[in-house]
Amino acid sequence: MSLRKVKTLAALTGAALLFSSLAACSAERTEETPPAEEGAESEAPAAEDVLVGIAMPTRSLERWNKDGSNLEGLLQDMGYQTNLQYADNEVDQQISQLQNMINEGADILVIASIDGTALAPILADAKSQDITVIAYDRLINETPDVDYYATFDNYMVGQMQGEFLEEQLGLADGAGPFTLEPFAGSPDDNNAKFFFSGAWDVLLPYVESGQLTTPSGKAPKSNEEWQSIGIQGWGSEDAQDEMTNRLNSFYAAGAPLDAVLSPNDSLALGIAQALEGAGYTPGDEYPVLTGQDGDQANVLNIIAGKQSMTVWKDTRTLAAQVASMVEQIVNGEDVEVNDTETYDNGVKVVPTFLLPPVAVTADNIQETLVDSEFYSAEDLGL
Ligand code: BGC
Repeated sequence: MSLRKVKTLAALTGAALLFSSLAACSAERTEETPPAEEGAESEAPAAEDVLVGIAMPTRSLERWNKDGSNLEGLLQDMGYQTNLQYADNEVDQQISQLQNMINEGADILVIASIDGTALAPILADAKSQDITVIAYDRLINETPDVDYYATFDNYMVGQMQGEFLEEQLGLADGAGPFTLEPFAGSPDDNNAKFFFSGAWDVLLPYVESGQLTTPSGKAPKSNEEWQSIGIQGWGSEDAQDEMTNRLNSFYAAGAPLDAVLSPNDSLALGIAQALEGAGYTPGDEYPVLTGQDGDQANVLNIIAGKQSMTVWKDTRTLAAQVASMVEQIVNGEDVEVNDTETYDNGVKVVPTFLLPPVAVTADNIQETLVDSEFYSAEDLGL
């Protein structure tokens, strides 16, 4: 019997209490749920009768390929049916993929959204068919129909980037002034706001004190203005063009660029290209450049001195967390979450499981990325 049928039966037989966690109540509410009655009519369905739809945003970024294949592999090993789709960063494509998954009888949808505000209608459809929805990595906004969220601590990602720049430049010791060019992620990605806020809470005081200056003028006056420097779709080429423009317009006279706040690796890749194009070579004069994800090309750039750090999010742990959420949902158990306050999607606070990110520099690549077998030494030319 499929999970959807079990849920319907449970509702009809009055054993719905057992499945109230499926209906996406908050973690507190699930904790209050009385235990299922002995001999209740419904049982957890067999794993092979459960279909999990996995919607990923794009194949163009290394991390999403890993996310998708890790999660698909884990769920299949647990016996579930899966349908994994990538959407070329096209919102309409993702919506029609979700529609197909619903039509195909999916019981659970795991969604890394492209535009976090565009999925309310399709999720209303999913909810009307009793499908449980897990937001993967990115929160889905403006809908009551998202049940759980699993991600890395997005604010902490930005904080690590900000603290790295603070330390490298000696800002806490009063050093400066230094030039800083900040970038932010895609304006339609809820995570990008958290990344920027985490970094800007560290850096803005130094902008205000004059220890950091931004010749391009693109230093937001508050966290809320982050979208003004966002790169739509997280594109490397757009970041490269933006960095090249800023370098040509504001640094051509020979003023040095000391630091770049890049929220992730795809932007950092484009920024590094722009720096190279403007004649910057690895060494003391090369700007401090941040990133996020630990993509292979960026780790190679760190080794080559073209990027200073990345915030690594071990996508294997996120996939494992989501796989265990799926298992808990199917078994009608309480779903484990560790944050029931932070992720307000505009309609509700979505119960969340947050994982910790790790800062990686040239000094700890071996112990973080290689010892954990995220990469082999050979992948990184070590
Ligand atoms: C993810 C990052 C990723 C970015 C671009 C964000 O939502 O959290 O890990 O670099 O999207 O795909």
